Amino acid sequence: MNAPRDMPLLAAAAAPGMDVVGAPYLSVFCDDHAIPDTTMAGIYAKAKTQQWNAATDIDWQAELDPDNPLDMPDGTVVLYGSRIWDAMGEADRVRVRQHVQSWNLSQILHGEQAAMMCAAKLVQTSDELDVKLCSAVQATDEARHVEVFSRLLGGHFDVDYPVSKSMRALLRDTLSDSRPDITSLGMQILVEGIALSIFQSIRGYSRSDYVKDIFSRVLRDEARHFGAGQVSLRNFYAGLGGAEKAEREEFICESAVRLHDHLCADDIWEPIGMSRRECGELVRSSAVAQSLRRSLFRRLVPSVRDLGLMGPRVRAVFEELGVLAYAEFPVG
Ligand SMILES: [Fe+2]
Ligand SMILES: [Fe+2]
Repeated sequence: MNAPRDMPLLAAAAAPGMDVVGAPYLSVFCDDHAIPDTTMAGIYAKAKTQQWNAATDIDWQAELDPDNPLDMPDGTVVLYGSRIWDAMGEADRVRVRQHVQSWNLSQILHGEQAAMMCAAKLVQTSDELDVKLCSAVQATDEARHVEVFSRLLGGHFDVDYPVSKSMRALLRDTLSDSRPDITSLGMQILVEGIALSIFQSIRGYSRSDYVKDIFSRVLRDEARHFGAGQVSLRNFYAGLGGAEKAEREEFICESAVRLHDHLCADDIWEPIGMSRRECGELVRSSAVAQSLRRSLFRRLVPSVRDLGLMGPRVRAVFEELGVLAYAEFPVG
């Protein structure tokens, strides 16, 4: 029996361990193939000159410390300074370090795959040729990032983690919405805004030149994606009516809460025999963890303001999350 025309083709056919998102959207052809002289076309031109090869430009033979593969200081571990951390012996701290890093890289890897799919979706759904071109290069960039983080995680860690419940919900909404701007807002501004800050932190704090090199390369690509989203959405939202803007603001509110919850990293603890509830409470209440978590919103919040989407409801949610002060920061 044929499936109804509007049924997502793979919705019922997910193999065990696979996740499938129904995404009914149009494939839009641009009849005019003249490449416009726009900022987006400029980003596309720059992207072509910044391509690199994950297989050959990175020294995959470099040795990493198995006790601390990303060579990060303990102050960046979310439990640092808590009574649990202070009571731990070195062997337990090693295990926590490894799992915190593995969880982070796993989430990055899930995000990179989703980013590749979002970029491919923008290639299909955008009605502007310069956006299609930019998105096509972004899909290639994201494929490279999947390769990089897959090799880093698979080569230096014994475990990986599934995507967190909050991030999964955000990625599903971002991918399944038929409106291209929601895909761009969800991925290029919200998820990549947080990712940029995470990558900057790892590049800044890691004492390994090898790790710094990997994250510097990825950061350069991600800054371009974030910039492309900012440019295309700024123009689009300037022409949007109040009701439509309110829908986008609602999406931002829901996503910001999900991102905050995701960053609490609740899934790390049970696999290493620690209490999910107790660690979750500590991560939410500790001054160190709160400040680490809030700092990851430093790119996202000014960007939302710049897009003209900082309505009272968004402002209230950012205030509740303790990140509203970043609204005064410049975009960048
Ligand atoms: Fe990426
Ligand atoms: Fe990206």
